[in-house]
Amino acid sequence: MVSSVSRADLPHIQQLVGELRLPASAVLPLYELARHAPSEPVRLPDDAELDRELDRLGLSAADRTDLLAARPDPQRTPGLWWLLERCVTVLRARQGTIAPLSPWPDLPDELGPVGRYLYVWVLIAALPAARAHHRARGIPEQSSREVLAVLADQLRNRRALHGSGGLHTQNWLTHHYRGAVYVLGRLHVERTMITFDPGPGPDAPPIGAPALALHIPEGRLTPESCDDSLTRAAAFFGRHFPEEPYRYAVCGSWVLDPQLKEYLDPESNIIKFQERFTLAPDTGPDLNETVVEFIFKRPFADLDVLPRDTSLQRGIVDHVKAGRTWRFRTGWFRLSAAARQGAE
Ligand SMILES: CC(C)(COP(=O)(O)OP(=O)(O)OC[C@H]1O[C@@H](n2cnc3c(N)ncnc32)[C@H](O)[C@@H]1OP(=O)(O)O)[C@@H](O)C(=O)NCCC(=O)NCCS
Repeated sequence: MVSSVSRADLPHIQQLVGELRLPASAVLPLYELARHAPSEPVRLPDDAELDRELDRLGLSAADRTDLLAARPDPQRTPGLWWLLERCVTVLRARQGTIAPLSPWPDLPDELGPVGRYLYVWVLIAALPAARAHHRARGIPEQSSREVLAVLADQLRNRRALHGSGGLHTQNWLTHHYRGAVYVLGRLHVERTMITFDPGPGPDAPPIGAPALALHIPEGRLTPESCDDSLTRAAAFFGRHFPEEPYRYAVCGSWVLDPQLKEYLDPESNIIKFQERFTLAPDTGPDLNETVVEFIFKRPFADLDVLPRDTSLQRGIVDHVKAGRTWRFRTGWFRLSAAARQGAE
């Protein structure tokens, strides 16, 4: 339920920031969350229910064990429980929406496993609402299962990157757990709108037009697999979201940085993918650290110890060492008539 922040919650926010050792930047997101007090206490699944859920979600054995040992509790971890109840409430209330939620603050490592897994418990508590939304849209059980299972991938990625279990992409997963993103073959595809200046040109999409955002999970990016995803996407969104006419695809990624052309074969999958897009003029911030983390799956540190086996690995490192910057670029293209067939 959305309400105004109660007098009791204002000092509570100050207390929480101290108790959970959150930075000042967490204050306003907490204030926003405080407006979403649950109308009845949130209940987490018992061990038997949880076992069934975790099977369906495909969590790794290591994550299952750590998650169970990190169960939050209103008595033992009241601050984290306050946060959990409000995140669950907001996620349930915002099923089907596409605008970003007010951010869920990153929780510091000092809170231990219960902090690292808190948002996993939030997502699990919101599963029935996410599934109900999928059912209401006629989304097949298999598609529903695939997108909710992205949580398990994110947990595996985090373990590979940091060596410890937990979730650090909680805000990203709020899109998967409220019906905005679907797994359509090779690409994950998100309902969105043109929210950036696409640049000049008679064919440029109008700001505010519905658009499908393409997300690239790890793997290969062959042109055929992308074509297949686009065809599936047109049919899928045409069937399940017929009121949203998607004529454009968009993507925001390091993969679209045109500087990659200096290092990669023109026939490579990445360059072929780039050729689909018109880039938006905004070049965005320097994201060297993020790009290195994406490619090498380890925190940005000593560039000299990173492997140099592929043209991409060599290019990424040499570029940074030359004092240059990698950027996430945003691009768009008009979906072909064939790919749009289902959406018309
Ligand atoms: C984007 C991605 C799918 C492209 O993979 P791909 O289809 O193999 O890319 P290409 O065929 O164009 O690869 C060109 C070269 O880069 C190498 N390469 C591609 N991705 C690589 C990676 N993640 N790590 C190391 N090398 C990589 C290829 O082996 C090839 O090397 P070569 O020229 O020496 O033979 C892949 O990089 C990936 O999985 N990245 C992680 C997910 C990601 O970053 N998504 C975007 C999030 S914003």
